[in-house]
Formats: sequence, structure tokens, C-alpha cells
Amino acid sequence: MEGEDELRKLNGEVSSQRDTVVEDDDPLVLSSQALAALQEFLADQNKTVTVTPPPSTVDGGDKVELVTEDWRLSQFWYEPETAETVAEEVVTLSNRFSGCRVACIACPTLYVYLKKKDPSLQVQLLEYDMRFERYGSEFTFYDYNEPEDLPPQLKHCFHIIVADPPYLSKECLERVTQTVSFLASPVDSLLLLLTGDVQRDRAAELLGVRPCVFKPHHSSKLGNEFRLFISYDPGTRLGGLEEEEDS
Ligand SMILES: C[S@@+](CC[C@H](N)C(=O)[O-])C[C@H]1O[C@@H](n2cnc3c(N)ncnc32)[C@H](O)[C@@H]1O
Repeated sequence: MEGEDELRKLNGEVSSQRDTVVEDDDPLVLSSQALAALQEFLADQNKTVTVTPPPSTVDGGDKVELVTEDWRLSQFWYEPETAETVAEEVVTLSNRFSGCRVACIACPTLYVYLKKKDPSLQVQLLEYDMRFERYGSEFTFYDYNEPEDLPPQLKHCFHIIVADPPYLSKECLERVTQTVSFLASPVDSLLLLLTGDVQRDRAAELLGVRPCVFKPHHSSKLGNEFRLFISYDPGTRLGGLEEEEDS
């Protein structure tokens, strides 16, 4: 607690210095408690947790390494069964395309499960959290506020796009829609969108997707019901498409 107080104080000091004209050129010196708290915070950010998916569902080993969730970035990781099911669906779909390229927009857990399942699959992770830079050239920094501020070589070259927007707002979904259009192959592409049920009508309008019967779940229990919306007919996979209600 003392360390947290120190950090808070430090934060306050830094922002009030930013707001006023500071004449003092002396370097900022942290107290030993603030330094210890800062180091603890940074170490926590780089921790990984090892998840054990359901038996014999992930190829090539039974453990999956994930970084810890940072709730300030709206990070809520999928339950292993959810990540497994969506990854299995993407791998199945990938067989439809030669040289298939998959884009994961803001769904880093799925990226990890996909690579574990099929290391040869070409997957690009678009993410805001720089901790995922650890995935090298398969990581692209992405901020949904700048939906098309992306490397030109990513334009129109993805056959499968999976998106899990950080927020449940209209504005966020509209911007992610712009990114999906930027990335999608104009010839043929499939979309999977994981988001709250509250986005159902907007998702249909903006992206032409429908919910399937399978429901995604998260390791931390969330208040909102989540759905997997898709742009194609999965047959009996994922429990099929949900029946449309008569209006
Ligand atoms: C609801 S989570 C989806 C994570 C997914 N459930 C998983 O397990 O992989 C939203 C993601 O959006 C990312 N994010 C946060 N702020 C963002 C921003 N400004 N632009 C793009 N992505 C952002 C977070 O880092 C997080 O990975």
C-alpha cells in the first residue's frame, strides 16, 4: 500500500508538473519505495500465465503461454474451451484458401492458440498492447482510433479476419469495420466477430454478420453476454447459425 501511495504521489507530481511551467531542470529522483513499486508493477506486466486447455485439444503440447490481462486495456482473455473452438474453426476454414492469410484484430489469445494448433498458418496479430511485439513480424501495432493507419502491404490480403473490439460502443465497431474493409481480400474473405450481444443489430448492419449458437466465454466472468458473429454458413459447426426471430 505504501508503495502504491508512493506511485500515486509520484503520478500526481508528474502531472501537476506537466500542467504548470516547471523551471527546475533537476532530474526526477524516485524514492526507494516508489522505485520498488514501479519495478513490481513493470514485472507484473511482463508475467505470463500458463493455461492448460481441455485434454488433447491442442496439438503439439498441452500448455499455452499468455501474458497477464491488463484490464486498463479492456483485456479479457477467452476461456481455453472458447479459444480452442474458435481456433479449430479458423483452421478448418483456412483449408478453403491456398496460401491462406489470417488477421487477428485485438484477439491475442486466439493468435497464440492458432499458432499452437498450426505453426505454419500465416497469422497477423493487430494489437495495441506492445507486449505482443514478442511475436516479431507477425505483430502489427494497431489503434482502432486510426483504423487504416496500417502498413500498406496488409491491404486487401487476408482471407480470414477475426476481430474482438476492445469496447462495446458504436464508434468502436464502426472503426473496426473500416479496418476489416482495409484488410479483407476483395475476392473472398470470411469474418468472425466476437463481441457483446448488444452489438447484434449494428454488427449485422455494418458487417453483414449473424450470431451462431456457440457462445464465447472469458476466464474472468463478464456481465455482458458475448456472441460469435460470422459472415458465412458454418453448417453444423459452432452449433450452426442462430435461428432468426420473426419480427
Ligand atoms: C476485449 S479484448 C479481446 C481479447 C480476446 N478476448 C482474447 O482473449 O484474445 C480487447 C483487446 O483490444 C486491445 N485494445 C485495447 N485498446 C485498444 C485500442 N485502442 N486499439 C486496438 N486494440 C485495443 C486489448 O489489448 C485487448 O487485447
